[in-house]
Amino acid sequence: MNRQDETGSPTRCEIEWHEGDMPYSPEFGDHFYSRSDGRSECEHVFINGNDLPGRWPENNSFTVAELGFGTGLNFCETWRRWNEIRGSDGHLLFVSFEKFPLRGAEIARALSVWPDLDDFSRQLTGHWPENPPGSVRIDFDDCIALELHVGDALQCLSLWQDQADAWYLDGFAPDRNPDMWSSELLRQVYDHTVPGGSFATYSAAGWVRRNLEAAGFNVEKRQGYAGKREMCTGGRALTDTA
Ligand SMILES: C[S@@+](CC[C@H](N)C(=O)[O-])C[C@H]1O[C@@H](n2cnc3c(N)ncnc32)[C@H](O)[C@@H]1O
Repeated sequence: MNRQDETGSPTRCEIEWHEGDMPYSPEFGDHFYSRSDGRSECEHVFINGNDLPGRWPENNSFTVAELGFGTGLNFCETWRRWNEIRGSDGHLLFVSFEKFPLRGAEIARALSVWPDLDDFSRQLTGHWPENPPGSVRIDFDDCIALELHVGDALQCLSLWQDQADAWYLDGFAPDRNPDMWSSELLRQVYDHTVPGGSFATYSAAGWVRRNLEAAGFNVEKRQGYAGKREMCTGGRALTDTA
């Protein structure tokens, strides 16, 4: 059963476990990541799609923002790759917007599939608030911090005061969760992107691309992950400082 807050809105998303430890949302009719390998999907779509290995060495301080925290797989994999590339030098802030936070035990179960994420998963679940308040910031060490905004992405993002260098658009498939791909929300994403910043997503749906372009992004199609023909990446022009 979903938990409900005092207004009757669900504050938890019920999940099912498929094929062992693969989380699935019956409410949205979708898996949280690729059934092929969520971690490689993160690398292909979000990390390489935003050209992070090429950009991180040039940036001492970097902000990644995400729509949909889910299991924290993208967060842990991004943290692991940042450590590989930057070591203990520089600072990575990972900001995520999530309406239905999972429980710590669910996060641990999902991430247990990738043993080399154990260290990151343990630290995440060790600090994880079971009933996260509206916004929570966790400083894991001098190099890495997580800022989680709990609530509807559109509402939370319109209140967020900062801008990201790179965005992960990860809100379930657009036809199953159109709210996470609306023109209004993607305009907010654009406004919260630094000039020269980027986004990446596994979706190449025509209406999502049009919403991204209407928001102001340059959009390009790339080879998708694991049998998906296409995905999208793009950016905000360096000259667009308005
Ligand atoms: C595909 S999953 C994200 C997977 C995640 N990035 C990971 O690493 O596991 C999509 C997430 O979006 C969240 N979500 C769905 N609708 C939302 C909304 N309107 N606002 C904020 N989060 C939402 C879901 O609860 C779910 O956790």
